[in-house]
Amino acid sequence: MKLTKKKGSLSLFFLFLLLAALVLTGCAGNTGADEGGVKKIGIIQIVEHPSLNTIREAIIAQLEQEGFKDGENIEIDYQNAQGEPSNLKTISQKFVTGEYDLIIAIATPSAQAVVGETKEIPIIFSACTDPIGAGIVTQLERPGGNVTGTSDAVSAEKIMSLALQITPEIEKIGALYNSGEANSVAVIKELKSFAQQQGLTVVDATVSNTSEVQQATLSLVGKVEAIFIPIDNTVASAMPVVAEVARQAKLPVYVGADSMVKDGGLATYGINYETLGRETGKMASRVLSGANPGEISVLTIEDVEIYINQETAEQIGIEIPEEILAEANIF
Ligand code: TRP
Repeated sequence: MKLTKKKGSLSLFFLFLLLAALVLTGCAGNTGADEGGVKKIGIIQIVEHPSLNTIREAIIAQLEQEGFKDGENIEIDYQNAQGEPSNLKTISQKFVTGEYDLIIAIATPSAQAVVGETKEIPIIFSACTDPIGAGIVTQLERPGGNVTGTSDAVSAEKIMSLALQITPEIEKIGALYNSGEANSVAVIKELKSFAQQQGLTVVDATVSNTSEVQQATLSLVGKVEAIFIPIDNTVASAMPVVAEVARQAKLPVYVGADSMVKDGGLATYGINYETLGRETGKMASRVLSGANPGEISVLTIEDVEIYINQETAEQIGIEIPEEILAEANIF
């Protein structure tokens, strides 16, 4: 009897040990799945220009607001391709082989590069003007797979209607863009059909990198009465150069984004990129909390506002109608 009793307490003791071990490994298991709780996020950006920087900062600020803080429970690896397509591939491959938990791709060329490298790691793209045309997703609603993100609705028609209100006399318009950027090509297509309806002539000036922007702008001087720049990353990163040429030639430059107005363009009808970045950050935080990107619909920011550079207007001798100024954001 004594022996059995001893045996009984001994097995109780082992049962307790077993339970304690289960509880301990159970706890460790929870954090272990997140590699100690810290998730690795790769941010890939095609080039440095003010709009993309605003977007990136807003994404990081929003993540923090949602409880994901760099250096604490997330680790952000930000890589900029400096406008070089070959860098995009190297960066994407680094994120994929490093088994990052989430990739955030800022602008179309970056998103195109990462979607080509992984079908598994969640990807949130940001500010892609035409995600379907660029081959990033096949549909906007619940796109499926590992990819979703945000889009900036840029309407060539709206921008050109504003242009015709400010400078009704224009007949020939120069289109300055990188023909390798799908985001620009989509907007230029719309520009050309609008121009045709309105009886305007479009003169193309295409570039393939930032160093060609000055020459391309100069090639339009004397040939057109205004310049149109879509939502083009290559031209945006050289915008001060364009603005200088245009200022000397007294040419109005109508652009696709507020940042390009700030950098010396004349006017746009554009979205708020801080808002777009915040929305991208919210999506990223949902995915970090376990949501499946393919089940989150692509969000297109549609709210547009007028942005005017009053200093540019004065320098090129253009008077902006009062009713436009009344509702515009002025730089
Ligand atoms: N929409 C651009 C793209 O699809 C990215 C972009 C965001 C951009 N803001 C901009 C380009 C401002 C030029 C200027 O790649």
